[in-house]
Amino acid sequence: MAQFSWTDDLYTGSTLIDRDHRKLISLVDAFFETMERDQGNGRMSKAMGDLVAYTERHFGREEGEMERIQYVALLAHKAEHAKLLRQLAELKEMLDAGGRINVPAVADFLDEWLRNHILTADMKLAAALRKQRSAMPGLQLH
Ligand SMILES: [Fe+2]
Repeated sequence: MAQFSWTDDLYTGSTLIDRDHRKLISLVDAFFETMERDQGNGRMSKAMGDLVAYTERHFGREEGEMERIQYVALLAHKAEHAKLLRQLAELKEMLDAGGRINVPAVADFLDEWLRNHILTADMKLAAALRKQRSAMPGLQLH
């Protein structure tokens, strides 16, 4: 059973962001599965590598949107992205070095990581994107 799955409270209302988040959640879940089934560091590291790569692309897209609308909280949101990526990279490094993973702790961390960021920073960003759209009805990009 999927541990990490989409729930409607994560819906931001931005098509671009919501689509990315669904994919992100499925990658977190794929990683979780390798952990839960104790599939070895190689498989876990590969799944984490996929998650890191997609997260980088997703954060890049969000940051592109922030720049486009000259988002007021751009620097803070970017800093949060950088921190999240660093934490994932550290986890991957630990796996690559052959370290053992504390499954419940990492599951909590991932859950917190996803939900907190989406429910706080991304909700605010989506609201700002909506506001921008209604201010410029000719520019309905998303
Ligand atoms: Fe974000």
